[in-house]
Amino acid sequence: MISRRRAARFTAAAIAGATLAGSAVAAGQGGEPVTLARDTTGTPSQRAAAVLRQMTPSEKLVLLEGYFATDIPPTYTAPAQSREGSAGYVPGIPRLGIPTQWQTDAGLGVASQGRARHKRVATALPSGPAMAASFDPALAYEGGRMIGGEARAFGFNVMLGGGVDLLREPRSGRNFEYAGEDPLLAGTIVGAEIAGVQANHVIDTAKHFALNDQETDRGTGNFNIDEAAFRMSDLLAFEIALERGRPGSVMCAYNLVDSVHACESPFLLTQVLRQDWAWLGYVMSDWGAVHSTAASANAGLDQESGFGLQKAGWFAAGKLDAALAKGEIKPARIDLMASRILTAMFANGLIDHPVTGTAPIDFATDRAMARRVAEEGIVLLKNDGDLLPIAATARRIVVIGGHADKGVISGGGSSEVYPEGENAVPGLKPTSWPGPVVFYPSSPLEELRKLLPQARIAYADGDDPAAAAEMARGADLVIVFGTQWASESIDVPLHLDGAQDALIGAVAAANPRTVVVLETGGPVLTPWADKVPGIVEAWYPGRMGGAAIAEVLSGKANPSGRLPMTFPKALDQLPWPGEPRHKEATYSEGAAVGYKWFDARGEQPQFAFGHGLSYTTFAYGKLKVRRSGQGLVASVRVTNIGERAGGDAVQVYVSGKGWEAPRRLGGFTKVVLWPGHSTIVNIPIDPRLLAVWDTATAGWKRAAGSYTVTVGHSSRNLGRSVSLRLPASHLPPGWQPPAKSPRRPV
Ligand code: BGC
Repeated sequence: MISRRRAARFTAAAIAGATLAGSAVAAGQGGEPVTLARDTTGTPSQRAAAVLRQMTPSEKLVLLEGYFATDIPPTYTAPAQSREGSAGYVPGIPRLGIPTQWQTDAGLGVASQGRARHKRVATALPSGPAMAASFDPALAYEGGRMIGGEARAFGFNVMLGGGVDLLREPRSGRNFEYAGEDPLLAGTIVGAEIAGVQANHVIDTAKHFALNDQETDRGTGNFNIDEAAFRMSDLLAFEIALERGRPGSVMCAYNLVDSVHACESPFLLTQVLRQDWAWLGYVMSDWGAVHSTAASANAGLDQESGFGLQKAGWFAAGKLDAALAKGEIKPARIDLMASRILTAMFANGLIDHPVTGTAPIDFATDRAMARRVAEEGIVLLKNDGDLLPIAATARRIVVIGGHADKGVISGGGSSEVYPEGENAVPGLKPTSWPGPVVFYPSSPLEELRKLLPQARIAYADGDDPAAAAEMARGADLVIVFGTQWASESIDVPLHLDGAQDALIGAVAAANPRTVVVLETGGPVLTPWADKVPGIVEAWYPGRMGGAAIAEVLSGKANPSGRLPMTFPKALDQLPWPGEPRHKEATYSEGAAVGYKWFDARGEQPQFAFGHGLSYTTFAYGKLKVRRSGQGLVASVRVTNIGERAGGDAVQVYVSGKGWEAPRRLGGFTKVVLWPGHSTIVNIPIDPRLLAVWDTATAGWKRAAGSYTVTVGHSSRNLGRSVSLRLPASHLPPGWQPPAKSPRRPV
């Protein structure tokens, strides 16, 4: 019900609108009429409905078409009001107090397009797998809060972060933007990061919906999967991210799913998102992922993105008007699309807390955040003979390769964050899209020298393996850096770039005290793994990567990351070994993604999902499992029985009959303990992970029977188990675990 007082204000706004329409008066500037948007009474959807009622038909269409916000000379000039060198711009409706949507990539920090001309430098978090390896949603929230804060400071109010496509193809060039192979872990971490971004009154976007699990043929590939398997894998990751992060927006993907473009799929955009999950945000397209006007709008796409970069402009006013005139789109559909966008803007504070683009950024604080994430995300894969942390007695150390004297590598494409300081290794190919290759100016070598003043640390670039091996011979410790550059729009081989495997082999042969530090976008083959006693996975470790690596190697930080993905031993262990799938492909492994595939087939990975060592040791006590609501809670005492403080990711795996794999990650938690200290952790197990998706009844179906819960240090290093009988149950689509705090009204 709208009060009389507010109704009167509607009229005032409508009259004011008539006189101000088309003028440059923006919300927040002096002298404008009292606008409806600023009346804070009512829920976001009520406020959106009230504004919508005042909009002219053409104003509604303005919200549905987003422009590319970077010039493409000589063909395209970005709108004058867009933020230079950014991803997107959607005009506002000044007379109604509806602000412009200024959109920026991405999940690791504020990115820039067209770097040569635009110098927006920001703080880069470590890559998605590093964040996932922390197994720490609280950290992901803080990381999201940091990058969302920078987005806001730069004047962006929509962030295109939240990549949650599953790591189904270990060679995908965008795995570094995502959060690994497990739907619970990926959904939980990305959901937390989304919530963190949105804590800044900035809308965040979960992407790319769905099955954009590889870059090969991303625009034309038709990826098929059995519906039940889809619901239990990629869709479950999105579902969890959406319920935890409540993003204002979801970005539909470039590819086709089951022969339908993802951005015009009624199954994805209406059945799953709206009917099943009751999600209330708006769907924006990926940049150029739209292929129709009426079909897309009626399927559930609300906003087209990237007009200018892609010239079609399927949601340009002229095309929408024509479709309306022909009756292909009903006016009510346009109202629905516009109201979803407005609702998300109100719900996330875009109207009540407008961005100005002039706020200062405290880079020192933000770098500290990036460093924390890097430290928590680094995974110690192998440490024979406790070679690490570096002993105080190590006097002669040789560091080799990976441009470790200059910085740490990052991933390419639209998510590339340009650092304050410059690219530490300019000129590496490719220097233009999908490059440039950017190294952040945080040198592991320099940082090691700071932390280990007693040691003499020499450096070889590794270009000449024989010379590097010669230098390594006789050293107390050798640290070889191995890099793999990956980027949006390409898939990459499952190994280190160039001849680095041979370099590592030559160095290890010359000195058995060799540690390999990997900086990779995802998993790589490690053919030299048996020849070196130490391996550290640092991922793309972000703006402070060199410092974090040095802290872990020196023992100043105790590694606590766990692998969010399987490292295969050989290519032929993959469901699709030859190369990433092409054009028409069925994801025949179904829901058996990553470790589930390896476990179902009895394949031995090189390093298992969940694996990661520490400089201390954690012991688990007796496992107890009790029923709680529809799910379970596992409790176990964790004790740090070693000599150092450290963090542990306690993992709980669940097993049932007739599943896609012998076990699934059912729950996890991160604890930090002083030596000798212990704590009891209570880990909830989501009932969807104790069930299978049943297409016939459209829901999560659990058969009556015996289920096993096992606590583990990894998916292959399992501890105690409890078996229990559970009754049959059925959860409807969209079932969610009870919220800890009341959900925000929309
Ligand atoms: C990417 C999206 C990105 C968009 C805008 C596309 O190429 O796939 O992830 O948000 O560009 O830069």
